[in-house]
Amino acid sequence: MYNLNNLKVRNIKKEDEKGSAKVFLEGFNNKIKNLSHIPEERTYDFLIDFGIVKNYYKEGYFVAEVDGEILGLMLLRWKGQEKQEDKVLDFSVLVKKYGLPLVVRTMIKVNIVNYNPKKGEMYIEHIAVLEKARGLGIGSILLERAFNMAKSRNDINKVTLSVIEENHRAHKLYNKLGFEDTHDTTSLLGKWAVGVYKFTKMEKCIV
Ligand SMILES: CC(C)(COP(=O)(O)OP(=O)(O)OC[C@H]1O[C@@H](n2cnc3c(N)ncnc32)[C@H](O)[C@@H]1OP(=O)(O)O)[C@@H](O)C(=O)NCCC(=O)NCCS
Repeated sequence: MYNLNNLKVRNIKKEDEKGSAKVFLEGFNNKIKNLSHIPEERTYDFLIDFGIVKNYYKEGYFVAEVDGEILGLMLLRWKGQEKQEDKVLDFSVLVKKYGLPLVVRTMIKVNIVNYNPKKGEMYIEHIAVLEKARGLGIGSILLERAFNMAKSRNDINKVTLSVIEENHRAHKLYNKLGFEDTHDTTSLLGKWAVGVYKFTKMEKCIV
């Protein structure tokens, strides 16, 4: 169905917003539903307004494209990563748009699940492939890009990620590509914020 010879992995651009929204919403549907009960047609705006889709980083946000269609995306984060201008809306603008209770609740939830990478760590904040394009190797190609980027930087010595307990297939894929489990974490707050109670932190050393 897709000719992977035409696959391009490149930095995200402004005009990719619609295509990448589709991948993001499909990949993280459950977490997003737990985060807020915003109507579906407003969800992507909501994610941008609250800075959940972090398309403001200068480097590290990749899309996988085949013949003009965005099929995958991946956000890498590291300490000291440069941002373009901050696109997150001011508190007062958010309140006007969404109402105070939802803004406060969302900010608390976002704060609970936000992870700040440590020195030397390149953290895969999210990776997703459109459902109809899964199992074709696109996720692996995106992950290879993460390894190459980590290798090309002398401030990075490992690539890390978190995978939820139920995501056995993704866990298996990460193992196959050389990630090792470092520890399991449980969090009632994570359960409340995005419906994630137990997850495993994984890492792959980069030499
Ligand atoms: C995890 C994910 C990014 C992998 O992308 P992909 O393009 O399907 O990965 P690849 O084709 O390179 O690798 C396929 C492997 O991933 C595993 N896999 C994980 N989820 C899969 C799915 N839904 N469909 C097909 N394969 C899947 C398969 O076990 C397969 O392993 P195998 O080759 O040994 O059979 C993708 O399945 C996805 O978007 N899942 C939903 C979002 C998500 O869970 N993100 C990860 C958060 S930690």
